[in-house]
Amino acid sequence: MNILVTGCNGQLGNEMQVLAPIYPQHTYFFTDIPELDITDLEAVSAFVQKNNIDLIVNCAAYTNVDKAEEDEATALRINADALTVLGSQSARVIHISTDYVFSGDEHTPCREIDPVAPRTAYGRTKYEGEKRLLAVCPDAVILRTAWLYSSFGNNFVKTMIRLGQERKDLGVVFDQIGTPTYAADLAQAIFTVIDSPVWRPGIYHFTNEGVCSWYDFTIAIHQLYGGIDCQIRPILSEEYQYKTPRPHYSVLDKSKFKKTFNVEIPYWLDGLKRCMEKLR
Ligand SMILES: NC(=O)c1ccc[n+]([C@@H]2O[C@H](COP(=O)([O-])OP(=O)(O)OC[C@H]3O[C@@H](n4cnc5c(N)ncnc54)[C@H](OP(=O)(O)O)[C@@H]3O)[C@@H](O)[C@H]2O)c1
Repeated sequence: MNILVTGCNGQLGNEMQVLAPIYPQHTYFFTDIPELDITDLEAVSAFVQKNNIDLIVNCAAYTNVDKAEEDEATALRINADALTVLGSQSARVIHISTDYVFSGDEHTPCREIDPVAPRTAYGRTKYEGEKRLLAVCPDAVILRTAWLYSSFGNNFVKTMIRLGQERKDLGVVFDQIGTPTYAADLAQAIFTVIDSPVWRPGIYHFTNEGVCSWYDFTIAIHQLYGGIDCQIRPILSEEYQYKTPRPHYSVLDKSKFKKTFNVEIPYWLDGLKRCMEKLR
């Protein structure tokens, strides 16, 4: 297959580039804004036709949750309008969405069939993107993920390493529960979908296994990185001045993905250990 991967300079896009050589049966076209702006219908159509693209893996997105509150129009253009563009091509689509489509008020892992209720501009635009894509491309695959990190790009793991090195004491929220997800494991999940003998469209949830709070995650980051002398204190969300409300509970139920594709998913701490080997 000829596979177009958009947003290739981001966390997930970079991990797709790392894994691609393991699947040499496909030809890859890795692009980011300078090569292909996914909001540009003419450019996307021309690119897909010229390169006979069979499958688009959309790793591009507007991912800054706080900035999206101030500029929802731009977030909407990239996270939603562009999905009409990508979904209207003569190619299959794998798209990535988010736990932010849910309210965060749940107490049990969210399933694909559970009602959505985004509370943020980012979540609204991502949910709109899901709807726009399915409207024009009903056989798309949408993978909702959460708490993504990687050795590439900026993310919570790198921020906590930096702050741990700079400070003697750090308060981290313990009343927000989710699952850290190593972008390399999500990239592997995407290749599982690509190489499935049968194309199985639909919405799926994919994160690493297990649950923790940001506080637990930070302690694990510091312990695994080593050499950090910083006291981590558990604090409540109300003690931290969030610009944008964060979900208190955003654990995703991955049963559908595991059953459909017959795979096991790595535990979050194992993913973190593998990422740390690269960061150290
Ligand atoms: N990060 C998380 O914690 C998280 C959680 C849940 C779901 N997700 C979803 O997972 C997916 C991958 O996230 P990620 O963390 O890998 O994102 P990322 O690191 O922010 O990468 C996104 C990439 O897309 C590029 N991009 C932005 N607008 C574009 C456009 N118009 N055309 C082409 N490329 C464009 C970005 O470029 P610039 O950097 O120059 O803008 C960036 O290189 C996204 O769909 C995201 O919504 C992420």
